[in-house]
Amino acid sequence: MKGIILSAGKATRLYPLTKNIPKTTLKVLNKSILERIIDSFIKANIKEIGIVINGKEEKYVDILKSFHHENVNIRFFYQREPLGIAHSVLQVEDFIDKDFVLILGDNIYDIDLKENIRIFYKEKSNSHLIVKKVKQPERFGIIKVLDDKIIDIKEKPKIATSNMAITGLYIFDKSIFKACRSIKPSKRGEYEITDAIKYLIDNNYKVTFSETEKWWMDIGTPDDIFEANKYFLNKINISIEGYVDDNCKIYGKVKIGKNTKLINSYIKGPVFIGKDSFISNCIIEPYTIIGDNVNIENIKVEESSIYDTILLKDSKIHIVKSIVVDNTVYYKTKNNIFNYYYIE
Ligand code: DAU
Repeated sequence: MKGIILSAGKATRLYPLTKNIPKTTLKVLNKSILERIIDSFIKANIKEIGIVINGKEEKYVDILKSFHHENVNIRFFYQREPLGIAHSVLQVEDFIDKDFVLILGDNIYDIDLKENIRIFYKEKSNSHLIVKKVKQPERFGIIKVLDDKIIDIKEKPKIATSNMAITGLYIFDKSIFKACRSIKPSKRGEYEITDAIKYLIDNNYKVTFSETEKWWMDIGTPDDIFEANKYFLNKINISIEGYVDDNCKIYGKVKIGKNTKLINSYIKGPVFIGKDSFISNCIIEPYTIIGDNVNIENIKVEESSIYDTILLKDSKIHIVKSIVVDNTVYYKTKNNIFNYYYIE
């Protein structure tokens, strides 16, 4: 069984943050979505992995270094234009010898792949879907089920006839390639994976599904990132490995990494602070994440994520619902899009 991650979309709803940073490499808590997906592959004993990208290979390479010692083999494939998920899948056809797990590179989840792979083989499926009941089915591909069988499948229907969303986690055998080649672009001009699966159903291939109760999200908008961060922050345990001086006030669940120093600061958890950072005269409000090697002084941070290796000194700014990368603060506007400003 091989693993495929699709990361060749445009992610325009997260512009300008994702102009230079592929969505799959964005962090949720202290780990990129990409690492989280690869971790789930490793747990399911999948170590032959393909990632479909549209360029910016260098942005992935650094992250992937952390897997070198795990015997994981990773290859890149290119989709030059985002013509749809089914088109993206076709780029890995030569790499796949038999069966594979496909994960859309904006999905994060607590779902156990191993259990689903077991069902795929037990049922002798050609395609196995993992579905979850959702409140807004119009945002997803959905299936309609009768007597445990899929009787209809649709991509983002205007009026949903079921609330069973198809997650971006699929298990396929090679029949999916024929299906992806057999379909036409949808009304929105994309080769839809949902249409390819419909082709399998219509041509008597076996398409099975399991319904999950586990946590799952796809990251599309700024709010989704903050919600995913909240989910992981609510699960942290108190742990203070760094140095905290007597003038600091710390409340709630706070995690402070090794070799990090906190001077005269107020912190209200849940808050996650990485290692080798220096924080002085700061106010850090709940649901904040501060990475490794960050040096900040005299700032107030709230529900935000400050990435690694950042220096913000004496800027006296208030960072709210933002993602800080290098010297740029991407903040969420009322319309749930990012705007940005630079810090000197
Ligand atoms: O997340 C679950 C949903 O994902 C499913 O319920 C839908 O049936 C499925 O079509 C998909 O819908 P999205 O609208 O969320 O797909 P999106 O365009 O965001 O693409 C998902 C990932 O696939 C994204 O990380 C980038 C990658 N991708 C996308 C396209 C369109 C590619 O690699 N190439 C592409 O051409």
